[in-house]
Amino acid sequence: MKLTAEQHETLDREGFLFLSDLFSAEETAVLRAALPAIFARTGPEIVRELSGAVRTAFGVHTYSDIYWRLSRHPRLVEPAMQVLGGPVYIHQFKVNAKAAFDGDVWQWHQDYGTWSRDDLMPEPHAMNLAVYLDPVNEFNGPLMFIPRSHRRGRIEAGHDLETTSYPLWTIDNETIETLVAEGGIVAPKGEPGAALLFHCNLVHGSAPNMSPWGRRAVYFSANRVDNAIRRFQRPEYIAHRDFTPVEPLGDDCLLVGTEHTAGAAAQ
Ligand code: SIN
Ligand code: MN
Repeated sequence: MKLTAEQHETLDREGFLFLSDLFSAEETAVLRAALPAIFARTGPEIVRELSGAVRTAFGVHTYSDIYWRLSRHPRLVEPAMQVLGGPVYIHQFKVNAKAAFDGDVWQWHQDYGTWSRDDLMPEPHAMNLAVYLDPVNEFNGPLMFIPRSHRRGRIEAGHDLETTSYPLWTIDNETIETLVAEGGIVAPKGEPGAALLFHCNLVHGSAPNMSPWGRRAVYFSANRVDNAIRRFQRPEYIAHRDFTPVEPLGDDCLLVGTEHTAGAAAQ
């Protein structure tokens, strides 16, 4: 699947593109069905909130067959190759849970801020493609963007090791105030199957989830193969070292096919 010229132009200009129904209800039902077994894992790849609720399941495509297939889905891989201008590999692949009542804040940040400082990713030739697995509304901690903030390039950031269970390079309030005065804030709402494509320098974050509705979403972080990371400081399940170009599967790959990963039986 290719983005239209207009979609591509919107993504370049605003730093993000919202697609309200990239995946069907049938496809997202299959993806959701695999989550209880994934969240029940006890390894370090399952990062928990300070409360103990699951915050993020990292590297899901390495132990779940259905997420392995999603990581090769043409509706994600082809737009990523188109936007980044070449073959891509999976830098990070995770499910964020944003649990009902317990889902904690994601402070304002740029992903390239972390990828460049921690992983020595040379250039911002990477992007995110997120797919909603639950409905996202104004109450359950939707992902918030500052439109056009990616045009600033990489912004000064501090390493926040304390606010949540997950270290992040975060941007100070004064800078956020200036960026928001220029670009505002958007938080696209949508149903399962909606997708958000965004530039790795787009400033984003999300508030804690006080609502009784969890909002799980899967994030595919694609990096251009010639832009592979240079430092292997973070765990492999957070910053992958396999730079093999991703080959897209068939468009129906979530609904037909066989198991691909060793851990798939655990589903
Ligand atoms: C992220 O920035 O990686 C995720 C933020 C969120 O899910 O709210
Ligand atoms: Mn992020």
